[in-house]
Amino acid sequence: MARTYRIAVIPGDGTGPEVIREALKVLLAAAKKYVFNVETTSYDLGGMRYLKTGETISDETLNELRGYDSILLGAIGHTDIKPGILEKGVLLKIRFGLDQYINLRPVRLYPCVKTPIAGKSSEDIYYTVIRENVGDMYAGIGGAVMIGTPHEVAEQTMIYNRFMVDRCLKYAFEYTLKYGKKATGRGDKNTLALIGKSNVLTHVFDLWNRAFEEMGRMYPDVTREYYHVDATVLYQVWKPEMFDVVVTTNLFGDIITDLAAITQGGLGVAAGGNINPDGVSMFEPIGGTAPFWTGKNAINPLAAIGACALMLRHLREDKAADAIEKAISETTPTMRSMDAGEMGMSCTDVGDAVAGRI
Ligand code: IPM
Ligand code: MN
Repeated sequence: MARTYRIAVIPGDGTGPEVIREALKVLLAAAKKYVFNVETTSYDLGGMRYLKTGETISDETLNELRGYDSILLGAIGHTDIKPGILEKGVLLKIRFGLDQYINLRPVRLYPCVKTPIAGKSSEDIYYTVIRENVGDMYAGIGGAVMIGTPHEVAEQTMIYNRFMVDRCLKYAFEYTLKYGKKATGRGDKNTLALIGKSNVLTHVFDLWNRAFEEMGRMYPDVTREYYHVDATVLYQVWKPEMFDVVVTTNLFGDIITDLAAITQGGLGVAAGGNINPDGVSMFEPIGGTAPFWTGKNAINPLAAIGACALMLRHLREDKAADAIEKAISETTPTMRSMDAGEMGMSCTDVGDAVAGRI
């Protein structure tokens, strides 16, 4: 009997619902072709709902989400809401609540997509960032006192323990073994690079480095490298082809994946997964709500469609994931640009084109 995947869908705000509509179209096309069922349940969460009800996400809803095979998220945000409320109240609450401790962000320049880096092609811009997703300054340790006085103190602390580091590194080594350059026939070795700042953040990166070296000994087929984060951004622009898989801390990962996204054609293309290898994971386009483009059917849905491919790969529907990625690769050459309003196609057209190629 065909498997049924129960997917919680959070279309969210702004252009979220538009890109999710196209992503689901492609997901259902893949399900039909590769003979599995997808059962979706939509959740009304985000800025619009917060403005109406004052609620971000309740513990009850969070618990309900634990019962699905995966979560697909559009975008969350609202210009009338103070920064931090929705981020912490919805997105980070799900990431933390469901212990999605990996943020998987593949960096792929699809065929004929324009990159701001001169002279680089699809072969050069092809690497994966594994971002630790629940620790670091994001964990929320810190505080402020004497607020509003000249003596105001504010503190926000980078935290990691051995357990958090080890579980992230384990995922990264396993991922590299499976999807590294040697494993996928794109090179002669699988390389995992740790990105840190061991020359200044000596406590935290001493921990990461030791854990990396110790675990690395159990993975003789993975070559280890280390780069400081400042050097990394330089190489991402200068020699992106040197990267295979990289693993890094939460905040550094947040920053380097935005840089990576623009090298792959922008936020219209970049997809990511918030993964709990033993629990419920959530997949999302990494761009935001794009308020200006809302309701114009002009936003690029490829990032949301790519998020479905990541979701299917995570659910071990590799053939369906490959088919979506291939269909994206065949669609990008027919688009004028990856930017909203400049694609030469509507959001719906792009969804139809990808779905039609499955
Ligand atoms: C991302 C976003 C989030 C983050 C924000 C919206 C909290 O920038 O997914 O990269 O910092 O992780
Ligand atoms: Mn970010």
